[in-house]
Amino acid sequence: MGKNIMEYETVELDEQDGGILIIDQTLLPGKTEIIRLRTAQEIWDAIYLLKVRGAPAIGVTAAFGIYVLAKGIVEAEKKPSGGKDGGKPIDKPADWEAFYEKFTEQKNYLDSARPTAVNLSWALNRMDGVCRSAHEKGKTVEEILEILHEEACRIKEEDIQVCRAIGENGLSLVKPGDGILTHCNAGQLATCKYGTATAPIYLGQERGYNFKVFADETRPLLQGARLTAYELHSAGVDVTLICDNMSAMVMKNGWVNAVFVGCDRVAANGDTANKIGTSVVAAVAKRYGVPFYVCAPTSTIDLATPTGAEIKIEQRPAEEVTEMWYKERMAPEGVKVFNPAFDVTDNELITAIVTENGIARAPFRESLREMCKKIKKN
Ligand code: MRU
Repeated sequence: MGKNIMEYETVELDEQDGGILIIDQTLLPGKTEIIRLRTAQEIWDAIYLLKVRGAPAIGVTAAFGIYVLAKGIVEAEKKPSGGKDGGKPIDKPADWEAFYEKFTEQKNYLDSARPTAVNLSWALNRMDGVCRSAHEKGKTVEEILEILHEEACRIKEEDIQVCRAIGENGLSLVKPGDGILTHCNAGQLATCKYGTATAPIYLGQERGYNFKVFADETRPLLQGARLTAYELHSAGVDVTLICDNMSAMVMKNGWVNAVFVGCDRVAANGDTANKIGTSVVAAVAKRYGVPFYVCAPTSTIDLATPTGAEIKIEQRPAEEVTEMWYKERMAPEGVKVFNPAFDVTDNELITAIVTENGIARAPFRESLREMCKKIKKN
């Protein structure tokens, strides 16, 4: 019998053969294929093409990615260049300059893959920070590589702990038997375990809460249908798939006690970018008095971005709307298409933002600062 999707690692560093292993999420649920990423181009493409997606999983992939590329820079320098000594370790200050120039080039390249999820630049900047500080402490490039390796593994480990803590905090907001609606996939496949919006659902499942979950299919790339419905169903959760235009009906029917969604960037005032369609769900939830919760690791809170108006929204190719998931094109040739990958939910539509450090409520400027301060102290 094949492995359950919940038993796979979303992102993994292959210590033996090198490179990063990911599940190619564009093939799910039909096919579970693990692919290996070694080059900058492969990592960039995997992120851009959504083979790996979801803000935290993108961050972890970028952290492993820059480590793998840094290792490649050092190995390339060590290769014999016509001399007979078989190469030399990079350990002189001059070598640091050469290494760091290439490191920065690769980092900036990976950072350009997707603009909205702050976790991409957050993880890369964190890796850059440890790299520079190790150099300032007099470490050799070889030693810096080891430090980068440890930091990338730590980012992954923290993601698991953070998601679990979000799950515990989120679970305190609901009760056994509740109906929960979610949009897109902020599940295990978007993180290293538990997910963010799904973490309360999985913890509730472990404790016999019997939630009734509604998963929006999430046009145009169907992360809700292909990924959320798939992973929740595989985990034995009671999940019902609905089209995006059905959420008002299920809320009006009184079937939903809470909405939990993930996020790609939370501005300092609480405005939240998440998968396109999230703001519609928030507006409908407000109309029907359903609490709307954003599940946000503090790594997704961007205090440097004052409001949602400053969040860059990724625009994706028209083909994703007109033909990508159909046997044949479903729109007239030449028709104009608007395909933003994310939208911003205004903070006044958000009941609370659930982080690993606690639950932030309005006024969000203060409460989010408090949540982020807590992480620095730890
Ligand atoms: O385009 P995607 O699939 O990367 O979009 C993902 C989302 O919008 C998720 O809700 C978000 O990244 C949070 S994942 C825990």
